[in-house]
Amino acid sequence: MKIKSKLPNVGTTIFTVMSALSQEYNAINLSQGFPNYPSSKKLNNLVTKAMNNGYNQYAPMAGNIELRLAIAHKYELLHQSTYHPEREITVTAGATQAIYTIISAFIRPNDEVLIFKPAYDCYQPAIEINGGKTIPIQLSAPNYKVNWSEVASKLSTKTKMIIINTPHNPSGTTWSKDDMLQLQKCTEGTDIMVLSDEVYEHIVFDEAKHYSVCLFQDLKQRSFITASFGKTFHTTGWKIGYCCAPDHLMSEFRKVHQFNVFSVHHPAQKGIADYMQEAETFLGLPAFFQRKRDLFLNLISESRFKCKPSQGTYFQILEYSDITDENDVDFAKRLTKTFKIASIPLSVFNENNRDDKVLRFCFAKTDDTLVKAAEILCKI
Ligand SMILES: Cc1ncc(COP(=O)(O)O)c(C=O)c1O
Repeated sequence: MKIKSKLPNVGTTIFTVMSALSQEYNAINLSQGFPNYPSSKKLNNLVTKAMNNGYNQYAPMAGNIELRLAIAHKYELLHQSTYHPEREITVTAGATQAIYTIISAFIRPNDEVLIFKPAYDCYQPAIEINGGKTIPIQLSAPNYKVNWSEVASKLSTKTKMIIINTPHNPSGTTWSKDDMLQLQKCTEGTDIMVLSDEVYEHIVFDEAKHYSVCLFQDLKQRSFITASFGKTFHTTGWKIGYCCAPDHLMSEFRKVHQFNVFSVHHPAQKGIADYMQEAETFLGLPAFFQRKRDLFLNLISESRFKCKPSQGTYFQILEYSDITDENDVDFAKRLTKTFKIASIPLSVFNENNRDDKVLRFCFAKTDDTLVKAAEILCKI
């Protein structure tokens, strides 16, 4: 049988490659973005309780209503922004499904979608399988600042959507209020939609503020927010997330959602809803991860890697041009095989695999793991 792939350029993701290599060589795995410490006992018990209390059948299509109320309450509390729990919030199978569903609900053949590179890897295949065209804007290390006149020059009548991600995976940078205002300004008066991937919304450091798209009235009317309880509650394996958008957008989203997913794991939704009643469960995250970032950075301060402290997410990028001129994929593989520490080379997220000699390390790890990882990094 002859198969004509709809995604001929897609192979196995770098996360799978590096995690497998890490396992094969028994390396410390700071590559993939997941914690190696347990999730909260309280949260686990609440999910178990939900199962024992009968939350075992299909949840409503848009999500358990208590969870949607908790999400709506969180947006009021943090951003004084209203999303109607019945019409404007949908619980999804992780942010990835929300992203795919948004793109397939709106992108038609030849529509253009702007993305900023380095970009999280699920955006481009979702655009292209729906016939859309990716318009990349490459940002540069070490600051990954957006040049807004370049963005303006890439907009056209074909532009249907812009995907943004702050705090940003993989660079650990965040967008300022001015960036968001510039985005609003350059799309004002258009029907260009914004997909704002805010999975690291609660992981912002040094007292900085997360500028959610919902804070900007004109943008909010044209935007989806995607979010992940996997990131927020240290439970990436549960694959529960959500998205918010004004009802004229959300009603189109649900037309697709109800036929490809319908609804997601009910007891986890109920457990998360109960857990979120205490705001500290998400308000405590910046301090929790900042302590880990600082521990990691202090421990590697004598190494030959160069860095700017991560501003958000649980990733720290390290630049290694003082160590070797190897390309980043080869260097990351050598570090895994020879030094037994796994990371992610940034070139895989860049346009044409541009290599800035930068690796990404995940610090959502136990202190013990970070200490061992730093010992290795200091010897390289
Ligand atoms: C920027 C970004 N968006 C989306 C996701 C996917 O989130 P989820 O695991 O909830 O699907 C991730 C996970 O690493 C991510 O880093």
